[in-house]
Amino acid sequence: MRNNNRSEKAIEFYSNHPINYNQIMDVLKENNISLDSITQESLSKYDQDHYDGSNAIDILIKELGIQKKHKVLDLCCGIGGTVRYIADKCKCSVMGIDLTNIRIEAARKLSKLVHLDDVTEYITADACDMLFQNDSFDRLVSQEALYAIPDKKKLFTEVYRVLKTSGKIGLTDIIELNSVDYNENPSYYEEWNIYNLLNKDRYINTLKECGFKIVKVEDLSLFWKNLLKKRYEMYNSLKLKTEKQFGNELQAKWDKNYRFIRLTRTFFYEDQKASI
Ligand SMILES: C[S@@+](CC[C@H](N)C(=O)[O-])C[C@H]1O[C@@H](n2cnc3c(N)ncnc32)[C@H](O)[C@@H]1O
Repeated sequence: MRNNNRSEKAIEFYSNHPINYNQIMDVLKENNISLDSITQESLSKYDQDHYDGSNAIDILIKELGIQKKHKVLDLCCGIGGTVRYIADKCKCSVMGIDLTNIRIEAARKLSKLVHLDDVTEYITADACDMLFQNDSFDRLVSQEALYAIPDKKKLFTEVYRVLKTSGKIGLTDIIELNSVDYNENPSYYEEWNIYNLLNKDRYINTLKECGFKIVKVEDLSLFWKNLLKKRYEMYNSLKLKTEKQFGNELQAKWDKNYRFIRLTRTFFYEDQKASI
């Protein structure tokens, strides 16, 4: 599939994602959380689209030593949950970029809601082609998104370019543990934009080829495998809302594909966190 088509598919997929602005507004209402007095802390229970929520961000903050003086970039930031969490906790300025405009708009509205719009900024952009100048950021994070970008060399060259010489990146990503048969459930791989996952060695080598020094790599596959069951249940609890917003067909497809990763695929994935 050509890169343009892939980008369009990713945008379509994430524009119809069960975790979205309207769904967050609904859940806040259901939990009697007033929009007038909502805090970042209470919003952060609902606005994150990666495994293990704020615990996972705390690990990145600690590993990367993120401080007030740092300018941070969240690559593929979705609706900005991580951007806001870091900005609030570390009192630094955080930028988020994402391909899906509707998610960037949601991120901006949510930042305004919790009064973090002066220290957070969001741009709709492709991670492989950022408009930032060289050496723009001190720290860069990314969570569960880069697997969908096929040209890792181009991606990490661009990441290296925008990072300062003393900069560090920390990321969680899905990689290939055992070889994946993409024909087994093609709709799943197509939906999630997964075409050529790298294995651990190739992933690390690509980072090194682009100039990075690897400090730490951690396998979270077992941990994630256990989390996926809960996550499937969470998406299941959103079933009616997802049907109402995007139709029965999309909800059925989502359920089928998420069930597939939860039940059959999880052991193929290994997570990699590289602090560089
Ligand atoms: C699973 S979500 C993770 C969102 C976010 N990192 C978080 O933890 O809440 C993956 C995100 O990657 C974005 N994405 C996919 N391909 C991208 C690309 N080439 N450039 C920028 N963003 C991209 C999608 O729009 C989506 O919001």
